[in-house]
Amino acid sequence: MNQVELEQLADQVLSYIRKKRKQIFAISTLAKKLKSESFDIYKAAKILKSWGYGLKLSKSEITFRHAADTLSATEINFYLKTKIIGQNLISFQSLKSTNDLASQMAAGDADEGIVVTSEKQTLGKGRFGRSWYSPEKVGAYISIIITPKIPLEKAPGLSIMTALAAAETFEKYCPGKVKIKWPNDILIGNRKVAGVLTELYTKNNKIDYVIVGIGININQKQKDFPQTIRKLATSLRQVSGKKINRAKLTAEFLQHFEKEYKSYPKSQLGGSLKRIRAYSSLLGQTIILKTGDKSLTGQAIDINKTGALIVEVDSEKVTVSGGEVTVVKRP
Ligand code: BTN
Repeated sequence: MNQVELEQLADQVLSYIRKKRKQIFAISTLAKKLKSESFDIYKAAKILKSWGYGLKLSKSEITFRHAADTLSATEINFYLKTKIIGQNLISFQSLKSTNDLASQMAAGDADEGIVVTSEKQTLGKGRFGRSWYSPEKVGAYISIIITPKIPLEKAPGLSIMTALAAAETFEKYCPGKVKIKWPNDILIGNRKVAGVLTELYTKNNKIDYVIVGIGININQKQKDFPQTIRKLATSLRQVSGKKINRAKLTAEFLQHFEKEYKSYPKSQLGGSLKRIRAYSSLLGQTIILKTGDKSLTGQAIDINKTGALIVEVDSEKVTVSGGEVTVVKRP
């Protein structure tokens, strides 16, 4: 068997043995089940160990002990319960940007629901041309290709819809602490734990495809963040006090995303507004909102079903669909 075949066999061995933790499997039995030779099963098990899986391995037996800390497609798939989103999942060790690769794929006519993940990004992109710090092994960098059948003007709400899916995912790990800062930041204790970058591509003034990207700080310790963002960023691990299984969290996020996205074309954020409002960090606050080169100051009073923020400025209600917000601190 060549290396690629052995790696495929390693995946098969894994799906067989991981369901029964601590059970001892005879290599000869696995060889029969997987229609291969015992020495190839042994080599495949060695490959699994090199990927970080905890196995007890002898010449004749294998026991599964623990999964590897990896964002591989195999690991994410193990937890994934979606119908469309992520059913085609492509994982990389390193990419410049998962959004860029997903966009190249979508431009070549890729299907809705394809998900691209990477262990690290070398040119991770944030909003407004900023970069997204994307170190290896501690975060998740995920991009989803969608082709929503909606008019262009309904697209802006997809960002806060994604932020809601993320907030609902994180809630399980950090109950009662997660906030959404309209339109696309997820905060815990006023620090950023995840950011969403939605990129819209059009053809003849219609949506061609949308790339929804999210970067999640999962297992970083405070000192792992560079000085420039150390006071602004946090991770789920820091808040929950527990190391988190990144593949499982990614699968859970994709599931929440699928649930929210299913109803979006028909009712936009109609069914989710109550939850979005409850998570919002801005409602009731005095804010400065910058859109392009314009800036306005007022009170954030609501979010509507298109995902727009309603701001009261000098007793007038202004509806804004995107921008960057700073909260004015009360003296
Ligand atoms: C922001 O808060 O400014 C948005 C950050 C978005 C980062 C994610 S990581 C996965 C995807 N690929 C990128 O290059 N960016 C997004």
